[in-house]
Amino acid sequence: MSKKLYIETLGCAMNERDSAHMIAELEEKEFYSLTDNPKEADLILINTCSVREKPEKKLFSEIGQYVKIKKQGAKIGVCGCTASHLGDKILKRSKAVDFVLGARNVSKISQIIHQKRVAWVDIDYDDSTYVFSQNQHSALKGMINISIGCDKKCTYCIVPHTRGNEISIPADLILQEARRLVDSGTKEILLLGQNVNNYGKRFSSAHRAIDFTQLLNEMSQINGLERIRFTSPHPLHMDDNFILEFAQNPKICKAIHMPLQSGSNEILRKMRRGYSKEWFLNRVEKMRGLVPELSIGTDIIVGFPTESEEDFLDTLDMLEKVRFDTMYSFIYSSRPHTEAHHWLEEEQVHLVDEYIAKERLNRLKDRHKEILTEDNAKQIGKIHQVLVENYDVQNLWLEGRSNTNKLVRIRTDKNLIGAMCDVKITEVKGAQLMGELV
Ligand code: SAH
Ligand code: SF4
Ligand code: F3S
Repeated sequence: MSKKLYIETLGCAMNERDSAHMIAELEEKEFYSLTDNPKEADLILINTCSVREKPEKKLFSEIGQYVKIKKQGAKIGVCGCTASHLGDKILKRSKAVDFVLGARNVSKISQIIHQKRVAWVDIDYDDSTYVFSQNQHSALKGMINISIGCDKKCTYCIVPHTRGNEISIPADLILQEARRLVDSGTKEILLLGQNVNNYGKRFSSAHRAIDFTQLLNEMSQINGLERIRFTSPHPLHMDDNFILEFAQNPKICKAIHMPLQSGSNEILRKMRRGYSKEWFLNRVEKMRGLVPELSIGTDIIVGFPTESEEDFLDTLDMLEKVRFDTMYSFIYSSRPHTEAHHWLEEEQVHLVDEYIAKERLNRLKDRHKEILTEDNAKQIGKIHQVLVENYDVQNLWLEGRSNTNKLVRIRTDKNLIGAMCDVKITEVKGAQLMGELV
């Protein structure tokens, strides 16, 4: 019988991709098979996130839960960003943890599982040219890392500390992986990086000159690949050249994530985002001018130190102006190894009162909900191209995502998984679009 692997993945798409890599490595090299029941696992991996304090705090109680239910002799490994950040402190605090593997070191998973009580969290480690084992399961949607790390050093963000300097993955490796996925049945590829559109600035060895726009173009020439998505691009690097390619290339999905963080120029400057709200709006207008159906998503932080009511009103104003299709919003969380954290420690600035920050977050979310309801109502009668991913036999509907990344359900008794269908929207329930085949 093969050994069983249970893996819990927190955090962002990068972590999901890292988990997929670790699963593939362990399946191929160590003959594990995946289970969704931690009680029967021989190896339990927790792939952690440390972008905010709360999930990081929960780590040790989670380890405690696994210790209670795990099989005798089963190993526990802590991977990902909290592993990078806390390193062997995790081993010191919990006797139950067998190893700690940093986010920058995932390619060493099949070696570290044979070690006892070690922490491998080398932040300078470069696995940008490592060819991971291939996932055995074919899938309609695939993910490919195009860069690792981040050079930006926004003043609130711990990611550069957990994932290290930015290195682009060689284009030939990316394109080769994309071709392999497409040959195995993948129709949609999601390109991943903390800063995808900074692609090509630095490789670990000599490489032909190439930027993100060119990479998108080369990838779109792969026969059989139908859709390309990417996350996260940085608003600062959305130049005209990129916008033209984005608008004109039919394989690039017309949904884009534009993390605004704040609508106040003063706060943006303190966050070191490198753009102003005027630049952000100018990019939005340019893109919407070329792609009227464009869907725009964003991330917002409220309560960044020194944020005043006026600053927050600037953020609300950006929400009114852009009317984001999706919005992830968070209360600022002070993270070690960040500049803003040092300002707080040195008392140069103070945290925004928790009650005020919560109230701002609620106001922002409430207004966004109203905007979504208003905008979704306008979807009725529109036709979307949907890649069908699931068939719900009980409810007799298909589920998939539109080109603009909206979740669409299609009432039909036909199983069309894998098909690209034109769907007319007939009903809207919250954020949920219902439609029929045309
Ligand atoms: N590279 C991406 C962000 C990755 S982190 C980008 O630049 O857009 C994902 C999101 O978490 C960020 O966009 C930000 O909104 C949020 N975030 C990061 N650090 C945070 C902090 N210290 N407190 C609260 N939210 C934070
Ligand atoms: Fe963090 Fe900024 Fe890098 Fe995004 S761009 S990962 S927010 S430092
Ligand atoms: Fe979290 Fe690391 Fe991603 S901190 S958001 S898992 S890059």
